[in-house]
Amino acid sequence: MTIVTEIAQDVYRISTYMSERNLQINQFLVRDDEPLLWHTGHKFLFQTVRDAVAKILDPAGVRWIGFSHFEADECGSLNGLAALNPKTLAVMHGSSFSGDCSRSLRELGTVIKDVVGRSDIG
Ligand SMILES: [Fe+2]
Repeated sequence: MTIVTEIAQDVYRISTYMSERNLQINQFLVRDDEPLLWHTGHKFLFQTVRDAVAKILDPAGVRWIGFSHFEADECGSLNGLAALNPKTLAVMHGSSFSGDCSRSLRELGTVIKDVVGRSDIG
């Protein structure tokens, strides 16, 4: 079950309770001229989060996606980021980078899979 709550003016919490894990997963949407989605949730939550965002604004209008650290619950839905050919990456662990970020993201995905040992990440 996912609930969307406006917790401050134009700031929304998208909250999904996963009973099988007894865990609440939250994302935050800031409605602005350049809307921000803070955390995407796991890959399996992509459609749920997208539908929740659509209750507030056109998901295609989300300008910024941010996350506090690289884990599946924060950014698991971003596996299509490399396809967008970003020109700049600013990451928590490592240097900020300008250039072929698509290649860097794919390489990072390979490293994460090697380290974590799961094929459903990235
Ligand atoms: Fe996390």
